[in-house]
Amino acid sequence: MIEIRRFLRDETNELHRELDAIVGGFSNRAEYARFLQGTFCHRAPVEAALLGWAAQPSSRWPRKLVPELKADLAGLSIPLPMTEPFHLSNDMAAFLGAAYVLEGSALGARVLVKGVEGLGFGPQFGARYLSAQAASLDSWRELLAALEGLDRQGWGAAAQSARAVFLHAIQAFRSEVLSPA
Ligand code: HEM
Repeated sequence: MIEIRRFLRDETNELHRELDAIVGGFSNRAEYARFLQGTFCHRAPVEAALLGWAAQPSSRWPRKLVPELKADLAGLSIPLPMTEPFHLSNDMAAFLGAAYVLEGSALGARVLVKGVEGLGFGPQFGARYLSAQAASLDSWRELLAALEGLDRQGWGAAAQSARAVFLHAIQAFRSEVLSPA
């Protein structure tokens, strides 16, 4: 495993576990609905912040998956929760650190998508977001290559930014604006 990935994984491991514990699995539709709402609250502002920062138009990150999330929510008649803007520091290390969390969540999606199949949701309906994430790790791999190019001085800032995104996600999943599971 490349060194910076190991570093970021170690630096965010505790928060990732905390998030896993909050997200849990989906044994029914209400739990999945809550996951979609929490994901929207977390992802929409972070994706927007990254898109706003990505000065270079060729930037591959973040993958734009908010449309898929909105389609899943609309298909299940779940209202869009309110979101708060996410503040991203204005430097490349912070950008890559935040992108690491969004793109890395595709690894978890490969596990989670299996859980929603049992509820009858998939790429055509209800689970477009998880299916799209799980379908390709190209963007993740390219991000790892970009992270490898970051000099060591940037590692701390990348980790700080990644932790900020994880904390933001934890708050989003805890938010009382979500429907009770
Ligand atoms: C219950 C929900 C989740 C489960 C079960 C889960 C599970 C996993 C698994 C199995 C991996 C692969 C580890 C590896 O290949 O070494 C992973 C990686 C990752 N997940 Fe999650 N995940 C969940 C939610 C999330 C969420 C919501 C986010 C982001 C907000 C996230 C961010 C990441 C990141 C950044 C990685 C990459 C870690 C690395 O560098 O290997 N995960 N997750």
